Amino acid sequence: MAQSMTKLCTILRVFLYIITIMESGIVVIIEGKEQQVLPCLFFMGDSLTDNGNNNFLFTIAKSNYFPYGIDYPDGATGRFSNARNVPDFLAEFLGFEKPIPPFATANHTDILRGLNYGSGGAGILDRTGAQLGDEISLNRQLQNHGGTVSTTTLLLGFNATRAREHLNKCLYIVNMGSNDYINNYLMPHVYPTSRLHTPDQFAEILIQQYSQQLRTLHGYGARKIAIFGLGMLGCIPEYANGTACVDSINSVVRPFNSRLRPLVDTLNTDLPDAQFILIDTSSISAGIDLSALGIRVSNAPCCQVSESVGLCIAGKVPCSNRDEYSFWDNFHPTEILNRAVAQRAYTAVLPSDAYPFDIRCLAQL
Ligand SMILES: *[C@@H]1O[C@H](CO)[C@@H](O)[C@H](O)[C@H]1NC(C)=O
Ligand SMILES: *[C@@H]1O[C@H](CO)[C@@H](O)[C@H](O)[C@H]1NC(C)=O
Ligand SMILES: *[C@@H]1O[C@H](CO)[C@@H](O)[C@H](O)[C@H]1NC(C)=O
Repeated sequence: MAQSMTKLCTILRVFLYIITIMESGIVVIIEGKEQQVLPCLFFMGDSLTDNGNNNFLFTIAKSNYFPYGIDYPDGATGRFSNARNVPDFLAEFLGFEKPIPPFATANHTDILRGLNYGSGGAGILDRTGAQLGDEISLNRQLQNHGGTVSTTTLLLGFNATRAREHLNKCLYIVNMGSNDYINNYLMPHVYPTSRLHTPDQFAEILIQQYSQQLRTLHGYGARKIAIFGLGMLGCIPEYANGTACVDSINSVVRPFNSRLRPLVDTLNTDLPDAQFILIDTSSISAGIDLSALGIRVSNAPCCQVSESVGLCIAGKVPCSNRDEYSFWDNFHPTEILNRAVAQRAYTAVLPSDAYPFDIRCLAQL
C-alpha cells in the first residue's frame, strides 16, 4: 500500500526526531488538534481496551463500580482506570468527537464509525483468563467483527463492494497478549503452560495464533492495522509491589515482544495491500519521563486493591493525588500515564516507539 507515502512518513519521522533532539518544545507546537481523516476506528483487546463490554458478562474482571471512573464524566463505565484509557485518547487524537462505543451497547449508527470489542481478562488463546469467568477472547472478538461486517453491508444498501470500501478505510488497533501471561503462563497453579513450554516456545505458540487472527482481520477488510506490544509486566504493582521491577517476569514476556517486529514484517510482505505497524509499548514506557509528568509513585496502586484479585475494592476511597501515580490498580495505568503512552503511540518521539512508523502516519496513508 502506498509505498511513497510510507517513505514520506519515514522521512517526516526522522525530521521530527531531529527537531526533538534540537528543542523538545517545538514538537508540542507541531502537534495540533487533528481533523478526523478516518471514517471509522475499531479496537480489539483486553482490559486496557475494554470500555464496557464486560459489564454484561459473568466475570470477576469488571470495573463498572466506584472507584473506577472516579475522574470520568460518566463515572464507572467499565473502563479499567480512574478516567480515560488509551483508546479514548487515540480516538481524540485522530479527531473523533466522541469515544468509540463498546460493541455490547452500540447501535447501527455507531457501527459505521467503529466499535470497541475489548474485554477484560481476554487473550490470544481462548482458555486464557477462564479462571476469572467469562470473557471475549480475540477469536470471539473477531467473530463479533464478522457480524459487524454483515451489518455494515446491510446498512450500506446490501452492497458488499461499498461495505468493503468502507471497511478498507478504517483503522484497526489490536492490543492483546498481556493476559496470556498474567492470567495464564504466570499462573502455574491454574494453567499448565509454564510446565509444558519454555518462554520461547510459549511466545511462538502465541505468535502463530496471533498471526492467523490478524490475517482473519485482514480477510474482513482491514487494511490499516496497528498492533500494540506488551508493556513491562514485571513492573506492574501486582508483581512489583513495593520493590523494583521483577526481571524474571520481564524476561518471560520478552520473547513475545521481540517476535512482534518480525511478525509485522511477515504480514506486510504476505499481505501487500495492507499496512501493519507495531507500537512498542515497553520502549515507550521506558522512554516516558515520569517525573516530568509529575508522577512520583510507580510501584503501588492508587486505589485500595483486593489482595486476591488486584482490582480496586468496591466503594473504597482511592488516593486523592491520582496524577502522581502511574498505576490505578495492580494492573492498569492511571489516566495520566494512559495519555502519555497514547501520545507517543500516535506521534512517536523515538525511532523505537513505533515500527515502521506511528499511528498518525498510518491514519494518513
Ligand atoms: C446511537 O447511539 C448514539 C450514542 O452512541 C446516540 O447518540 C444515537 O442517538 C443513537 N442512535 C439511535 C438511532 O438510537
Ligand atoms: C455498489 O457500490 C459500488 C461502489 O460504491 C458502486 O460502484 C456500485 O454501483 C454499487 N452497486 C449497486 C448495485 O448499487
Ligand atoms: C504489598 O507489600 C506490603 C508490605 O510491603 C503488604 O503489606 C501488602 O499486602 C502488599 N500488597 C499486595 C497487593 O501484595
